[in-house]
Amino acid sequence: MFMEMSLSTAWILGAVGLLFTSCVPPVLQSAVGPVASRKIVPRRLQMYHAQLDPRMATTETAAGVPVGARSMLHRTAISALYGEELGHQYVPFNVTGLARTASMDFVDLECDIVETPGRFTNDEWYYNFTSTRIKDGWTHVDYTFLDFNATLFNGTHFLYHKCIAKPARGWCGVNLVEGTGAMGSFSCHRERWIEPPSEDVYGPAAGFVAIAAAFHAAFEGEGWVTRQTHRPQQNSSFVLATAKWEDRGNYTMPPRLIDHFQRVLWHIPINARAKEIPAGQEGGKYDLDGVVELQVLDEQPILLQKFDFVRTFATIGVCLSVGVGAVVWLIVLPKESGRLA
Ligand SMILES: *[C@@H]1O[C@H](CO)[C@@H](O)[C@H](O)[C@H]1NC(C)=O
Ligand SMILES: *[C@@H]1O[C@H](CO)[C@@H](O)[C@H](O)[C@H]1NC(C)=O
Ligand SMILES: *[C@@H]1O[C@H](CO)[C@@H](O)[C@H](O)[C@H]1NC(C)=O
Ligand SMILES: *[C@@H]1O[C@H](CO)[C@@H](O)[C@H](O)[C@H]1NC(C)=O
Ligand SMILES: *[C@@H]1O[C@H](CO)[C@@H](O)[C@H](O)[C@H]1NC(C)=O
Ligand SMILES: *[C@@H]1O[C@H](CO)[C@@H](O)[C@H](O)[C@H]1NC(C)=O
Repeated sequence: MFMEMSLSTAWILGAVGLLFTSCVPPVLQSAVGPVASRKIVPRRLQMYHAQLDPRMATTETAAGVPVGARSMLHRTAISALYGEELGHQYVPFNVTGLARTASMDFVDLECDIVETPGRFTNDEWYYNFTSTRIKDGWTHVDYTFLDFNATLFNGTHFLYHKCIAKPARGWCGVNLVEGTGAMGSFSCHRERWIEPPSEDVYGPAAGFVAIAAAFHAAFEGEGWVTRQTHRPQQNSSFVLATAKWEDRGNYTMPPRLIDHFQRVLWHIPINARAKEIPAGQEGGKYDLDGVVELQVLDEQPILLQKFDFVRTFATIGVCLSVGVGAVVWLIVLPKESGRLA
């Protein structure tokens, strides 16, 4: 009797239990899911940067004193001049995040700026640049600074700059996306000038001369408008790179000059290394393979397992009550209602 009745009850309970157990796994599974997130992993990498390496300079053959810049420096100065809004690959690694160099030497500048409101139509010129540097040599003997004056008409004001560029010590930073950053956002922070600067023309002073010479070549020249045709003219790479021509007789120059000066000065040593050096070839008189340490707070994508506690505990709660209810039904209820008898 007990056997017969309990058998049918057990069938029903079994079926109910089966129904519940079969729906529990999908519910639990849906409570656990992957969520995209980011993990910050600090990494130490190396960035090519020649600092004030004297091998950047060309020398006067007779005296062996530094007078100019190797061709690679001119190339990197020009690419920085045009690179205001362009991306540059600072490291050949796929890293994304804030990057900052260790302490290092570079060339920085300081300017006194006088801003005078004016109208361009009254003047013939809109840009000029003059420096203490003379062709094929230097007028000063210590090789540790470059004095220059530059004036830019920015559309509303004449900006008179009286500047000095000198070797400095500090660090640089940029935000990288897959190893690449915007050249305009790369910036260096001077901790101090290098004082007193070394006057040894075979040491850092030669590196300074090289950077200053490439910088000078990028900015020298003038921009003017011919009286006859009122057409803008120029003989400066800087004007070529930055003037935006609205129409044939109208153009706009950048609102600020300092950003362009610094972007060029700071990038010259980064790509100073000669290109196409055969792999495995080392040394050589003119290899510029100096590096500085670059710390990157690399943001690596990760998948986190998200756990939905409410759904999980609700499911477990329902299962437990069904299970306990079934056991109570089997043991307690039949005896009281007498259905087992
Ligand atoms: C760089 O890494 C990210 C993830 O770490 C990946 O999505 C991307 O495709 C990688 N890019 C290259 C050029 O390898
Ligand atoms: C810059 O201009 C000042 C006058 O404002 C002049 O004394 C100085 O010699 C100029 N410097 C250069 C490098 O041309
Ligand atoms: C250069 O700019 C100055 C203003 O700083 C101006 O007075 C001078 O005439 C300009 N020189 C030339 C050669 O255009
Ligand atoms: C640019 O042109 C001006 C005016 O013709 C001239 O005085 C100056 O020397 C030139 N500069 C360069 C760098 O060619
Ligand atoms: C140049 O063109 C712009 C836009 O067409 C105009 O706003 C500006 O006044 C013009 N400037 C001059 C000096 O003609
Ligand atoms: C030119 O420079 C002055 C002074 O920095 C600034 O106030 C002005 O807005 C600039 N003009 C333009 C068109 O950006």
